[in-house]
Amino acid sequence: MNSLTDKIILIVGLGLIGGSIARGLKRSNPSLRIEAVDNDENQLSTAISEGSIDAFGELNSLCPKADLIVIALPPLATASILPQISELCSPQSVITDVASVKTSVTAAVNKLDPEFIARFVPGHPIAGSEKSGYLASTDSLFNQRNIILTPQVNTEPEAVALVHEMWRALGADILGMSTKRHDEVLAATSHLPHLLAFAIVNALVRQEQSEDIFRYAAGGFADFSRLASSDAQMWTDVFVANSEAASSVLDDYIDDLMALRQAVTNQDHAALYASFSQARLVRNNFIAKYFNPMNQPTTQTNNVTSFTVKPGGQVNGDIRVPGDKSISHRAIIFGAIADGVTRVKGFLEGEDALNTLAAFREMGVTIVGPEAGELTIYGVGKNGLKPPRKPLDMGNSGTAMRLMCGLLSAQSFDSELIGDESLSTRPMMRIAGPLRDMGAVVETEADGTPPLRISGKPLNGIEYAMPMASAQVKSCLLLAGLYAQGTTRVQEPGPCRDHTERMLAAFGYPISSGVTEGLTELEGGHELKATDIEIPADISSATFFLVAAAITPGAELTLRHVGVNPTRIGIINLLRLMGTDIRFSNENSIGAEPVVDITIKYAPLKGIEIPAEQIPLAIDEFPALFIAAACADGDTVLHGAEELRVKESDRIDAMAVGLTTLGIDSETYDDGIRITGGTLQGGEVDSRGDHRIAMAFTVAALRAKSSILVHNCANVTTSFPGFVELARSVGIQVQTSK
Ligand code: S3P
Repeated sequence: MNSLTDKIILIVGLGLIGGSIARGLKRSNPSLRIEAVDNDENQLSTAISEGSIDAFGELNSLCPKADLIVIALPPLATASILPQISELCSPQSVITDVASVKTSVTAAVNKLDPEFIARFVPGHPIAGSEKSGYLASTDSLFNQRNIILTPQVNTEPEAVALVHEMWRALGADILGMSTKRHDEVLAATSHLPHLLAFAIVNALVRQEQSEDIFRYAAGGFADFSRLASSDAQMWTDVFVANSEAASSVLDDYIDDLMALRQAVTNQDHAALYASFSQARLVRNNFIAKYFNPMNQPTTQTNNVTSFTVKPGGQVNGDIRVPGDKSISHRAIIFGAIADGVTRVKGFLEGEDALNTLAAFREMGVTIVGPEAGELTIYGVGKNGLKPPRKPLDMGNSGTAMRLMCGLLSAQSFDSELIGDESLSTRPMMRIAGPLRDMGAVVETEADGTPPLRISGKPLNGIEYAMPMASAQVKSCLLLAGLYAQGTTRVQEPGPCRDHTERMLAAFGYPISSGVTEGLTELEGGHELKATDIEIPADISSATFFLVAAAITPGAELTLRHVGVNPTRIGIINLLRLMGTDIRFSNENSIGAEPVVDITIKYAPLKGIEIPAEQIPLAIDEFPALFIAAACADGDTVLHGAEELRVKESDRIDAMAVGLTTLGIDSETYDDGIRITGGTLQGGEVDSRGDHRIAMAFTVAALRAKSSILVHNCANVTTSFPGFVELARSVGIQVQTSK
């Protein structure tokens, strides 16, 4: 794998950005050789005397020897120098740029030699300022700033990794986007504000007595017009290069401005107030969420959203729920440590999976997306992860924390995993114990909960019989086993989800599963080969709609492209046992996973005794299933499900308390519950910040006598972004409030 050490870096254009790259790299790695090309000899001489570069000269002489060429010029100048650089550079060199428009640069690159295209990694630091020139440059300009890389699918992962490493050495956080999306986003967030700043200054100049106006200008003018001090040449280039996206945001802006003009002319107090107060709220939230100058880990989630659900409503339609959460986590993990480029479709853009994605970015992996459920992961290989610079925040996700712990235990660096309030109470000894048997060093809190402090160590394979059927424990050990000396064998007491095994096989990793019942084994030391992955819709998210239809007379609903891996279909088996009419059509398989369209029709439900073997196959579906039980005729009895007590909340207790509030009789046991079907009343219930409890009680309102108010629903976005909108689209009358 490429590494910055001992490389010759050539910076073409030693202005604010180029100069700051030179200074920052020299600070982080004084032995790097940095050379520069620029029109301004004075700047170059100053840079030499300050020690921020080692040499300067002509492109013709410096380009052929450079290992990494950074073109730090405005967009049009970047596009026009590319042919010359591609002629001059060595066939091993990696080339990147910093231009703030990427479509024009990429179009220029794509006219060149395919081998050059594969080694060109477009980039853009979101770190410019109104200052320009080498003298304004600093060695910390990129510290904790976002850098957007926009590699293409055929860009070499090694080239991407080298550019990633350069930005990382400068202290930056590296994001990935498609070229088109980058230009649209930047047109709105950067290009438009600059244009407005130039325009407002010009507008004031045209006013009579402009001198007076400037003299008395208040802070608002100074704040707003700061951007108008920016480099005129550069911004001319930006708007010419990004004309299409910039014109489109400008059109929207002009419409908004015309509406405001109308409101001002009409002295429309309400319209002005609504517009300003909304903008104020959005801006404050945005600053609180994204501007975190101390870079403190943010583990608290905003738990203030409530759902108010009117009683009754219908469930009809044809919908597709978002991608599978378990498979989304695994797609990132395996794509990151594979050799090559993995493309993922149907990725769940929920907070849990996004936290996993952010963790791998922090460990040096470039990931483009997610955009409309698509990701492109530039794998760094099994041993290519970099030490995280801060604790990795797994948010609300037990799966992410447990799987990552297995992977991180085997790395050559130390790391720490943290989580939100709920995750910080969840048991981790179930993984720390067997990992320690493999030679891992994992520290938990005294009571076995996170944070997890991991000291990476060489591991040995073990044979482990899991005391509970846990896919998280199994996957954690298999991930550690990829790196272990010898064979890792995991025996499960009953079948639990096998996405890890299926995906490892899809990545070409030798694994044997189920030859002896319940036994999975793999040998450490093999590699993973990148592959394309399509993620089915999540059956656990589909469950809320299955139950919604199952309890609502007259309901008929089709759910498309749902993953029906046999280790996940407990909910289908149980609803069928209760009497629901469920049919599969369009049976298919995408990659390693079976998918179907599911059509469900209402039929009266009867209470059941839940068969023990169905529990791991329906482990996440019990909150919703308990609502079906509350609407069924007779008792539904569950035993052997103590695991439900240690999920995102104690799901037995949370559901029993909520059901009691809603007038349903239940009795709880250490390992389960009995629910007697009855008539649901309305009332206020607390989801305890557990996404599945929140969605289950939302669905319950379909059969309630009056409204149900569900508190603490913000975490629904961990697994099911868009739940409220989709629920409304089928006829559930749900509103959100803060
Ligand atoms: C999961 C496994 C299950 C499940 C969780 C996702 C996974 O947990 O509840 O939501 O992706 O491996 P356990 O392994 O703790 O049963």
